Amino acid sequence: MTKGLRKGLASYGDESFSLFLRKVFIKAMGYSDDALDRPIVGITNTYSDYNPCHGNVPDLIESVKRGVMAAGGMPMVFPTISIHESFAFPTSMFLRNLMAMDTEEMIRAQPMDAVVVIGGCDKTLPAQLMAAASVDLPTIAVPTGPMIVGHHRGEILGACTDCRRLWSQFRAGKVDEEEIERIGGCLAPSVGTCMVMGTASTMACILETMGLSLPMSATVPAVYAERRRIAEASGRRAAEMAIRGGPKPSELITTASVFNAMAVLQAIGGSTNGIIHLTAIAGRAGVPLDLEVFDRFGRQIPVLLNLKPSGAHYMEHFHNAGGLPALMRELKPFLHLDAPTVSGETIGDVIAQAEEASDPDIIRSLATPVKKEGTMAVLRGNLAPHGALIKQSAASPELMLHTGRAVVFDSVGDMIARIDAPDLDVHAGDVLVLRNAGPKGAPGMPEAGYLPIPMKLARDGVKDMVRISDARMSGTAFGTIVLHIAPEAAAGGPLAIVETGDRILLDVEARKIELLIDDAELVRRLTAWKQRPPHRKPATRGYAKLFEDCVLQANQGCDFDFLLRDGSIDKNL
Ligand code: FES
Repeated sequence: MTKGLRKGLASYGDESFSLFLRKVFIKAMGYSDDALDRPIVGITNTYSDYNPCHGNVPDLIESVKRGVMAAGGMPMVFPTISIHESFAFPTSMFLRNLMAMDTEEMIRAQPMDAVVVIGGCDKTLPAQLMAAASVDLPTIAVPTGPMIVGHHRGEILGACTDCRRLWSQFRAGKVDEEEIERIGGCLAPSVGTCMVMGTASTMACILETMGLSLPMSATVPAVYAERRRIAEASGRRAAEMAIRGGPKPSELITTASVFNAMAVLQAIGGSTNGIIHLTAIAGRAGVPLDLEVFDRFGRQIPVLLNLKPSGAHYMEHFHNAGGLPALMRELKPFLHLDAPTVSGETIGDVIAQAEEASDPDIIRSLATPVKKEGTMAVLRGNLAPHGALIKQSAASPELMLHTGRAVVFDSVGDMIARIDAPDLDVHAGDVLVLRNAGPKGAPGMPEAGYLPIPMKLARDGVKDMVRISDARMSGTAFGTIVLHIAPEAAAGGPLAIVETGDRILLDVEARKIELLIDDAELVRRLTAWKQRPPHRKPATRGYAKLFEDCVLQANQGCDFDFLLRDGSIDKNL
């Protein structure tokens, strides 16, 4: 098989000339023939001044390069898109598939025998692994790692569960302007990803579980020296994989590893976004993800990790307590132990070498869980024929069975315009409904599902309400929030025809989300909906048009329909 610099020659109609020309140009960078004859390990560079979660990427690249060279390989760094949650308009999810396409095509276009993808902020690692699964070149992921924790007036704080909690207190008038400014300076005290079990931490844990990164990669804080040593070890391993030609993503992303990832997702209090990204990564490898299996795991597997937003601690504490291998040790009865990993060992081998959890409050045993059931439940009903999710571990127990009057917002803009209006007709027992915020509707499925409690209710001390939408929410958020309703309203899902004043039932134990109207009325309203003009002007050009035309629903991973490997998902759903 063609390797190294000879791979994927630019087409000039003469292969020898193509190679000659490639060498002519690369020698301009000062490389020797000896260096150019080695197996090449590509390294993605997602450093960006707009992305503080990737602020340590230059250091990690240097460490990866050191490892690659120590193992006889030739490192070559190349840039790709970088996405930060707070700097991506209209929403980072809109750009995930673009980053996946960019990464995939750059891996395909440039000569490399293995690739190290360095990512961290929520959408980046999913995009990189979607790309890697499509190319199927030996790949190892190096997460940038979580931030260290912040401190304020003797309290430990972190991005961004505490951002939301303290902002709610500010909205309720319990924290003043000067104080919230001071708090803002403490919530993100270092580079790295959000240090709670948000989407970034969830995805880092999922990739480590699936054997796509080295053990402990998910949890080492971004600024620890150990983070650089893991990067160096990953570079070394990538060079070995470049020489051997494997393992490839297709050997690692399997039904067994996807099952393991779903089990870990339920046990860690993981982000709801995690299931969308896992579906998309698995879809690129041709492995279907069954939401019913995920829900069954949720009934069997308790939350074992005591981290915010479901619990009390932060990633740094999880790492010091033994990290993911120690957690998987507790979860052993539910895991496929023979699943291979990028290190060459099986997950069973990794667990056998794991330390016992050093803090039984942070990593709990099956006998002493944080929550009796898993992180998430999959809901169905006439409002969500293809499913919806609730993060039950971060919801209010008293709202898990609730019937309330719908208060409907037609779009994110409508919600922003009216939610705090003093004359909004809303009461604590109502159900807030947001629609046209799904993959096609917004577009890009923004994290608007965490609808704020209307100001007048927040000031009266209301802390949680049932909120339902076709949007997503941040993994750092909490509350009784039903998300990812599929099909979304903009695709003709029944959420489109809910009217203010209708009654809605949420029954998490029965896994139900129901609009309490009779079937004939439901059909009448759906027929009338089809005759209405679209809720906004559709995109006519560029990436926005591609996105709107091709994005799949939440239960299908929100990938583009033409990028899935055949057989992974029923695109007609
Ligand atoms: Fe980047 Fe939270 S904003 S991980």
